[in-house]
Amino acid sequence: MEKIIIFDTTLRDGEQSPGASLNTKQKLEIATQLSALGVDVIEAGFPASSVGDFEAVSTIAKKIKGPVVCGLARALKKDIDVCFDAIKYAKKNRVHVFLATSPIHMKYKLKMSPDDVFSRAIDAVKYAKSKTADVEFSAEDAARSELDFLCRVVEGVIDAGATTVNIPDTVGYSVPSEFGEIISRIFSRVPNIHKAVISVHCHNDLGLATANSISAAINGVRQIECTINGLGERAGNASLEEIVMILNTRKKLFNFETNIKTTEISKTSKLVSSLTGMLIQQNKAIVGGNAFAHEAGIHQHGVLAKAQTYEIMTPQSIGLKSSSIVLGKHSGRHAFEKKITELGFKLTGKEFEKAFSDFKLLADKKKNVYDEDIEAIIENEFAEEKQIYELSALFISSGSSVKPVAKIELKKDKKIFFADASGDGPVDSSYKAIEKIIGRKFKLLDYSLKSVSIGKDAVGEAIVKIEHKGKIFVGRGTSTDVLEASVKAYLSAINRILRTQIFADKNADIRR
Ligand code: KIV
Ligand code: ZN
Repeated sequence: MEKIIIFDTTLRDGEQSPGASLNTKQKLEIATQLSALGVDVIEAGFPASSVGDFEAVSTIAKKIKGPVVCGLARALKKDIDVCFDAIKYAKKNRVHVFLATSPIHMKYKLKMSPDDVFSRAIDAVKYAKSKTADVEFSAEDAARSELDFLCRVVEGVIDAGATTVNIPDTVGYSVPSEFGEIISRIFSRVPNIHKAVISVHCHNDLGLATANSISAAINGVRQIECTINGLGERAGNASLEEIVMILNTRKKLFNFETNIKTTEISKTSKLVSSLTGMLIQQNKAIVGGNAFAHEAGIHQHGVLAKAQTYEIMTPQSIGLKSSSIVLGKHSGRHAFEKKITELGFKLTGKEFEKAFSDFKLLADKKKNVYDEDIEAIIENEFAEEKQIYELSALFISSGSSVKPVAKIELKKDKKIFFADASGDGPVDSSYKAIEKIIGRKFKLLDYSLKSVSIGKDAVGEAIVKIEHKGKIFVGRGTSTDVLEASVKAYLSAINRILRTQIFADKNADIRR
């Protein structure tokens, strides 16, 4: 097995994504996670580009152990000096010098002749080499460069001491067969090619960054530059998670290995997305929200029977707990049955058919059907709708200098139950009185009160959330008296818990 070096440039090219800027603390947090992920090289920034970048690169160089810490520099002495000053703290450091080699860049951007570009590249590499042993040279816009000139530069910089030579497709113009051919020709034409690691850095303007990188690896490169979530200039760079999971999933085909701990992929992707504010497209390969979600009934049936029918890699391999079965209009009986079993319901064959047809009707109107929707379908259809406990009277005394006391009367099966209690305020007191009557305590997760109409006699709406056996039950109550609304909301959530339980027990009896 041959090793592919994973060079992560999330903090440099990735941070060049419009709107993705990061401060030093955030960059350090990402660098720490990249190190846990197992990347070989972290390109931490472009130190000469700003004081902030210099600070971030030097902080990372001081703190990160393990990966090589690399800084980018133009082929200018002053850039290389600043770059080295930032990375010198890292035990393993690298100066990455770049200079464009394509006719269009040399003519319009650099305004330099090919010979001048050649000499500048050699001088820059020699200068960087005088500072550190690990020097990378990038021939910017290599994919659109003339092959003869590109090969001349590659040979020259290797002679000058470059230990890695990078062949970027800077504008994402190439296609896999063509890019693979460029790499293959460089290997066959440059006599000293084996004295350096040959690398690629592909942009995604035509959506081919990952494919081009893999094609380059097949044709001999042993370093791939990439970013988490494919961040980067314009349409981004090749995405690290795609490259690594391709090489992993198709190991037998490629025979390549990387140092990446794939179970850290999901965590890293989420961290980068939350710190940069760059949301991950839902259907993004590997790390998108839908990458391990199944909606179509045929797929759900297949996955429930054997995951590999529709999953070529396991969700666990990228650090997710499991794949998900999303209930929607395409879902079938198998997925629906699994869901209701997970929710603790046991239905007879007839009840199941009725619930399934109600679910299909709802799914036609609603994009996603959530657990609460299914609970409501089942409760509405089969559980008795009546309130198990009803509020029959409420008396509360409270004030700035008196201890709050709540006296509550509840009706159940025509019988009246009474209790009083005192707590931290009138709402807490009344909830304690209810619990005394029912004979159990409930875990209140959330309580909110809002006005649902205007004026002094506005109706108040209270919403409570109670946790019971790991599930959340919501209750709602309205009244012009906010304390009564609060009591009704609590009772309605408790009634839901009790109904679900009675319903589950009743069905368990039917099965027994
Ligand atoms: O896209 C590019 O060519 C670059 C170089 C600096 C490597 O980002
Ligand atoms: Zn780039």
